[in-house]
Amino acid sequence: GGTVAKNELGNDVSVSKFLDSHNVGDRTLVQGLKGDPTYIVVESKEAIADYGINAICTHLGCVVPWNVAENKFKCPCHGSQYDATGKVIRGPAPKSLALAHANVEDDKILLTP
Ligand code: FES
Repeated sequence: GGTVAKNELGNDVSVSKFLDSHNVGDRTLVQGLKGDPTYIVVESKEAIADYGINAICTHLGCVVPWNVAENKFKCPCHGSQYDATGKVIRGPAPKSLALAHANVEDDKILLTP
């Protein structure tokens, strides 16, 4: 089971190209489980984090942008905030952002609930 992460063009994300084109600490949106926008985290120059962060706000479903300067996710709709790992730090969001397991297989990112 699981879902292969896709880019905005609908192509499978190549992990090696992804690591080449991003910096450590970046959080970048891909299409994840059920097509949900999901952040992939660059853990080091060699690896992505073993989790993806679902970008759908747990309040009313806006896509939550990553704010690199403040090192948090800030929802533009009603002001909820989440820390760098998606943990809710300010409401009205009732819960943290959902996480998915992210595993690398054949240079692709396989997401599972
Ligand atoms: Fe994000 Fe309301 S939808 S704070």
